Amino acid sequence: MIRKVGQGKISLMGWANNSHPSNDFQEIYGVGARECISKSEKFKFVFSQSKQLDLIELEQLLQSVGWSRRPMRRVQKALDNSLLKVGLWQHDSKFPRLVGFARCTGDGVLHATVWDVAIHPVYQGFGLGKELMAYVLRSLKEMNIERVVLFADPGVISFYKSQGWTLEPKGYRCGFWYAN
Ligand SMILES: CC(C)(COP(=O)(O)OP(=O)(O)OC[C@H]1O[C@@H](n2cnc3c(N)ncnc32)[C@H](O)[C@@H]1OP(=O)(O)O)[C@@H](O)C(=O)NCCC(=O)NCCS
Repeated sequence: MIRKVGQGKISLMGWANNSHPSNDFQEIYGVGARECISKSEKFKFVFSQSKQLDLIELEQLLQSVGWSRRPMRRVQKALDNSLLKVGLWQHDSKFPRLVGFARCTGDGVLHATVWDVAIHPVYQGFGLGKELMAYVLRSLKEMNIERVVLFADPGVISFYKSQGWTLEPKGYRCGFWYAN
């Protein structure tokens, strides 16, 4: 699926400044951390690009949505080589919990590809996935990236479509190569 970054509305909800002082968040989640507005009345959620990711916690999150385990060393390298890594944390001043994640690869100028978009099943339906994608696109826009692509699982095509993503027509412009 493809998305021109200037295209359509990018929700600003995930960037809202609100009652919780952002300085408090930055102490726990690193520079640039921001609260993510959600439909949950019980929890607060915070986006961070700079809080260190615990690889085990990340893999547990990705396995919780049904994806298979990957070798840690390769995952670490993939993270190191990514253009953008966004963690979404359920706020707790002592034990923040990683509940969402997305990352992008790309050339840093023109094109980016989104990977590993996941919200922990317990936290799905609160609007977090939508806000996470808005945050990702907003961050890519700040890098002046023009075009973003992702490979949607069949079950989530309408999730992306409703946010302005376009299904690449007829599939004839996509090429895939798998090592095995
Ligand atoms: C897809 C995913 C990220 C959505 O996260 P979420 O936090 O539950 O989504 P949201 O609550 O932000 O939902 C936003 C909107 O999308 C809709 N939506 C959510 N999941 C959907 C799905 N699988 N298919 C279609 N629509 C969906 C919601 O109903 C909501 O609609 P609304 O704005 O009209 O209320 C999450 O379900 C997930 O992690 N799934 C497993 C991993 C996965 O498939 N990732 C994508 C890989 S390509």
